[in-house]
Amino acid sequence: MALKVYLSLLFGVLITAIAEASNIAISGGPGQGSHFAVAASLGEELVRRGHNVTAIISGEAIATSTEKRYSNLFHFAITNRRISEEEVKEKVDFLARAAVSGNFWGELMKNMETMQEELYKDCDALLIDDDFVNSLVDANLDLLIIDPYFGCQNLLPVILKKPVIFTIPTHLEEYLGSSFGSPINAAIHPSFGSGFPRRMTFWQRLRNFIQINIIPSFVAMQSKGLQEYLSSRNISPVSSSEIFSRAELFLVNMDFAVEFPLPISPNVIPVGGITTKPAKQLEQNLEEFVQSSGEDGVIIFSMGSYATFMKEELIQDFVTAFSRLRQKVIWKSTRDLPEGTDQTKIKTMHWLPQNDLLGHSKTKLIIYQGGNNGFYETVYHGVPSVVIPLLMDQYDVASRTVHHGMGVELDYHTLNADKIEDAMRTVLRNSSYKENAARISSMYGHRTMRPVEKAAFWVEHVIQYGGTHLKSVAVELTWYQYHQIDIILSLAIILAIIFAILFFVFRLTARLICNVFRRNIKADAKKTD
Ligand SMILES: *[C@@H]1O[C@H](CO)[C@@H](O)[C@H](O)[C@H]1NC(C)=O
Ligand SMILES: *[C@@H]1O[C@H](CO)[C@@H](O)[C@H](O)[C@H]1NC(C)=O
Repeated sequence: MALKVYLSLLFGVLITAIAEASNIAISGGPGQGSHFAVAASLGEELVRRGHNVTAIISGEAIATSTEKRYSNLFHFAITNRRISEEEVKEKVDFLARAAVSGNFWGELMKNMETMQEELYKDCDALLIDDDFVNSLVDANLDLLIIDPYFGCQNLLPVILKKPVIFTIPTHLEEYLGSSFGSPINAAIHPSFGSGFPRRMTFWQRLRNFIQINIIPSFVAMQSKGLQEYLSSRNISPVSSSEIFSRAELFLVNMDFAVEFPLPISPNVIPVGGITTKPAKQLEQNLEEFVQSSGEDGVIIFSMGSYATFMKEELIQDFVTAFSRLRQKVIWKSTRDLPEGTDQTKIKTMHWLPQNDLLGHSKTKLIIYQGGNNGFYETVYHGVPSVVIPLLMDQYDVASRTVHHGMGVELDYHTLNADKIEDAMRTVLRNSSYKENAARISSMYGHRTMRPVEKAAFWVEHVIQYGGTHLKSVAVELTWYQYHQIDIILSLAIILAIIFAILFFVFRLTARLICNVFRRNIKADAKKTD
C-alpha cells in the first residue's frame, strides 16, 4: 500500500514535471563572463526543475569553452559569428585595459567606431542570419531570458514574438528602472556607479538628481544608433524603452540585506546572490596550501581580468605588502611574480575556485575589484573584504561594503605598498569587520528560498500567468504625468485664477467703498459751502 502511494506520488510528480516543462532560451551577453554566470546559474536551476534550456552563444570561439562546462545541462544555439578566440580575448582585455588606464570613457570614445562595427557584426549574426533565427523558431520557445546590457539580444523577443524576462546582473540602474515602470527616487537612492553613500550630502543629491532624472534622456537619444542599425537592416524600428516596457519581469541581482532600501514595483524581483552556492571541497594541492597557513589563514586576491594590466610596480607593491603579513596569499593572476617572491607564501593561479575558497574556514579576507557576483559571494560566506573598485557598479559595491562595516575601500590609482598593508591590517586586526560580515551573512541567509530558486519560481509564475498583473501603470505614463507636473500645473493655474478673481473682487469692493466715501465727503463739503 505504502509502496503504491509512494510510486503514484513519484510518477505523479514526474508526469506533472514533464507536462509543465517549458522551452526556455537564456542569453547572458556573448556567452561567457560575469553576465553569463548569472544567466547560467538560473538556467541550471531551471534544468533541475525539468525545463529544457537553450543557451544563446555569440560565435564558435566562445562556445568552445562554455559548451565544455555546461554540455550536460543546456542545449546551445550558436551564432555564425566569425571571431577567433584571440579576438574575443582582445575585446574583454580592451575594457579591462581602459578601466585600469583611469580614462575609461575616453578610451571608449576613441574606439567607438570599431566597437560599433563589432556590435553590428554580432547583431547580424543574431538577427538576420536565417539559419540561426530559424533554429530558435524551431526550438518552440515559451520564454526568453535575456541580459539587457548587450544591445541586439534585446530584439530577439520582438523578432521571435516571444515573451521575455530580463535578468539585471547588478543592482537596479536608473535608465532600466524608469523603462520598466520602477523609477528611482533620486532623493533616496544613489545613482548607478556613483559610489555615493546611503545618506547623501546636498552636492551629492544634486549630482544624483542630474544623473537619475536628466542623463537618461540622453541615453535614450543615444539609442538612435540602434534605430539606424534597424532601418539599415529593414527591421521595423523599436526603441529600447518599448522593449523593456513589454517585458514580463525583471530579475535584479540585488538583495536588501546589503542594498540601500528603495521602493520597487512588483515586476522587479530582487534575487541578489543568484550565483551563490555552498562551497565545495578544494582540490588536494590547493587544500594543502591553505592548510599550510596554520592559524593565520589565507587572503584571496582577485582583480578579475584587470589583473592582466596592472603595472609592474603595483605588482611589486602587493608582493611587498603581502610579505609583511603572516597570512598566506592566493592570487588570481596569469603574470609572473617578481624574482625572489616567496612562492611558499604567495600562490598564483590562472583561475580560482573563488566560491569554494570564500567558504573555506581558513579564509580571512578577500581583496577584489568589487564585482557584483563576487560581492554577494562574500556576503553569502561572511568574508570581510578590501574593495579596489575600477568601474561602474564596483564603486557601489565599495560603498555598500563600507556602509555595512564589512570592509574598507582603496583607490586603485593612488595605491602603494603601505596603503595596501594598512587596509589589510585594519580589516584583519579589528574584529568588527569579521563580526559585521558574519551578522549580515546570517541575515542574508534568513529566507524561505535561495535566490536562484526564487528566480526560477518567478520564471514559472510568468510562464503560467504572464506578467501583466505585476506591471505598474508608470510605464504607460509620460514623464510629466508620472511626476504629476500636469496636475501640479493645473492646480497652480486654478489657484492663480481664484486669487485673480479674489483680487479683482476686493479691488472692486474697495473702489466702491472709496467712491461712496468720496461722494459723502464731497456732499459734506457742499453742505458746509
Ligand atoms: C529542447 O530544446 C532543443 C532546442 O534548443 C530542441 O531541439 C529539443 O527538441 C527540445 N527538447 C524538448 C523535449 O522539447
Ligand atoms: C574597529 O572599527 C570600527 C569601525 O569599523 C571602529 O568604530 C572601532 O573603533 C574600531 N576598533 C578598534 C579597536 O580600532
